[in-house]
Amino acid sequence: MATIAVTAEPASTAGCDVLVVGAAAASGGRGPTLVVDNDLRALRSLSDSLRQLGMSGAVDEVVKVPAPPGTAATVVLVTGLGEPRRHFDPETLRRAAGAATRALAGTDRALLALPTTTAADVEAVALGGLLGGYTFNRFRVRSATDRPDGVRRLLVACGLDTRTARTVVARARTIATAVCLARDLVNTPPNVLTPRAFAEIAVQVAAGTDLSVTVLDDKALRKGGYGGIIGVGQGSANPPTLVRVAYRHPKATRHLALVGKGVTFDTGGISIKAAAGMERMKSDMGGAAAVLAAMTAITRLRPAVNVTGWAPMAENMPSGTAQRPSDVLTTFGGRTVEVLNTDAEGRLLLADAMVAAVADAPDVLVDVATLTGAQQVALGARTGGIMSNDDTLRSRIHQAAQAVGEAMWPMPLPEELRKGLDSAVADIANADGARLGGMLSAGLFLREFVPAGLPWAHLDIAAPAFNPSAAYGYTPTGGTGITVRTLLQVAEEMAAGRL
Ligand code: BES
Ligand code: MN
Ligand code: ZN
Repeated sequence: MATIAVTAEPASTAGCDVLVVGAAAASGGRGPTLVVDNDLRALRSLSDSLRQLGMSGAVDEVVKVPAPPGTAATVVLVTGLGEPRRHFDPETLRRAAGAATRALAGTDRALLALPTTTAADVEAVALGGLLGGYTFNRFRVRSATDRPDGVRRLLVACGLDTRTARTVVARARTIATAVCLARDLVNTPPNVLTPRAFAEIAVQVAAGTDLSVTVLDDKALRKGGYGGIIGVGQGSANPPTLVRVAYRHPKATRHLALVGKGVTFDTGGISIKAAAGMERMKSDMGGAAAVLAAMTAITRLRPAVNVTGWAPMAENMPSGTAQRPSDVLTTFGGRTVEVLNTDAEGRLLLADAMVAAVADAPDVLVDVATLTGAQQVALGARTGGIMSNDDTLRSRIHQAAQAVGEAMWPMPLPEELRKGLDSAVADIANADGARLGGMLSAGLFLREFVPAGLPWAHLDIAAPAFNPSAAYGYTPTGGTGITVRTLLQVAEEMAAGRL
């Protein structure tokens, strides 16, 4: 990730390779309007040439031009801000900054001079800039030079007093580091990111922080009665693990439990998936990645709330030791599940981890999972679903997601779908023969493992955890890190007594 600093120096004289400025959408046959402070007014004359270069000023448009006299840069990058506004909202600023830094791979020093008035605006520019500059080149060896690393040094120009500016930029750096950790974990191939490797990374990222990490290996899981995690993992040569990460604050009065689905690769098991597109299933640990990453941001930003993160990790493989459709397993806590479809594995390992999480007596339980293909059918490629047993919690999480610019939408848990999970032999079945409402019946399955009266929310991020298409705004191709920022926001809301 790029380094980032603030400068109080006028953008016209601050030394950099690329000067990034915003332009609002054109109107009335004119070119896009450069939204710059007076010291950069010379740039306003670029409007006509930007129009001739085909720029409309929409968000996600970027145009690079040689820097005109009156600037200390070599190149000016103009990034679209959309409709003209007196005050551009933080998500527009994040996207505009992200689109800009995404176009700056290989650049040494870039100065972000986007229109900011509040501290939240400056944080948005810094965060969008850092997230847009993300690259994942760890596995390029001979081909590294045709995909240069992202921009190396970012400078944010702003009118805030230096102390405030430094604080918000440091916060942006912490959050971006966490989101990029989640992206890296999702992008890392499953032959490298095994359940055990994930546990080792959890220990590594916690070192030097006051997070405490506990790892249960497969032996401990078998002994402890974690039949769900064992069942999912038993077909793989890479044994399952359960990772617990705890953050404690001395002034906390509330406790948040986070549980993330960690299937390092989901072949479907004996109920095997089709080959086409199966490579996407390396993203099936996106929930666990988001939980671990959120914990790293929480321990650095120190909200006054206790948070415990859980990551049940397994690889879902078909083999002679794999579970079969019709197996009955006993989840942690004693409830039995008939496995009708080995590809509905996420709910099995979540059930174990959720019951384990409940043993710590949290006040709120949130799980995050790439749980169902039906999620993408319902909400499309970029938006995740929020289900809950508590209307207030569902809408607070929705608000939290909107506040940070993560696309999540409330979904119901229709009572009539529950009977589809009745089993002929066990307490519940893991799959519903019916075709409709797959995201919701998965939510209803999980609800069975939540004690009455405990507010719980389930975030299905099957679609938005992984972007198989072109990058946009500050979202790269591949792992996106979605929900890292929502989970942090939820922790901060709880600390502030708002949730
Ligand atoms: N990991 C998948 C869900 C998924 C699908 C994530 C597409 C990302 C993109 C999950 O384990 C799964 O296979 N779910 C099944 C459940 C069904 C068998 C009840 C599904 O959605 O088809
Ligand atoms: Mn599956
Ligand atoms: Zn899965």
